Amino acid sequence: MHQDIKKVLVTEEELYEITKKLGEKITKDYQGKKLLMVGVLKGSIYFLTDLSRHIDLPCQLDFIQASSYGSGTVSSGNIKITKDIADDLSEFDVLLVEDILDTGNTLKHIYDMLIQRNPQSIAVITLLDKPSRRVADIKADYVGVDVPNEFVVGYGLDYDQYYRNLPYIGVLKEEVYEK
Ligand code: IMP
Ligand code: MG
Repeated sequence: MHQDIKKVLVTEEELYEITKKLGEKITKDYQGKKLLMVGVLKGSIYFLTDLSRHIDLPCQLDFIQASSYGSGTVSSGNIKITKDIADDLSEFDVLLVEDILDTGNTLKHIYDMLIQRNPQSIAVITLLDKPSRRVADIKADYVGVDVPNEFVVGYGLDYDQYYRNLPYIGVLKEEVYEK
């Protein structure tokens, strides 16, 4: 697995520091609120589990999953929800947890859908941001780290459903795609 990685972008130690810092910030910002963390499956699971352990507040966890249909490797605007959360969010301050914000199409769709369920508030946290790739009108309220426009894997992020369990974030070697 490690031999397929060209370059490590974010090390395990850096991931620890990033999640700790973000968790402490969330702890400050969500005092007295009823926090519901909603992870976007599957990529966010490593980030969500580490982040939530640095949040010193009562909080609930749930997961949502969307698939983008249409053509190509870039997400289209045609998004289908394949696993949903509660219809009524009126008592919660929702924090949407993403692995990476790329075009933003997927998250924008989820955000617009959840806001209609009247949450107390809704905010977005993403571990990685590729701001140069943004198409949809959506911005993260909390960002771990900006990454260049390269395809990254590990710590939840996949290539063809593999490499999610790499403990760091890295760039795949080109020959892996060419196999
Ligand atoms: P978006 O709708 O274009 O923002 O797509 C976001 C989703 O595409 C992310 O949640 C990831 O699952 C996936 N994605 C985008 N960029 C990468 C990458 O560099 N590596 C792995 N997955 C990625
Ligand atoms: Mg994702």
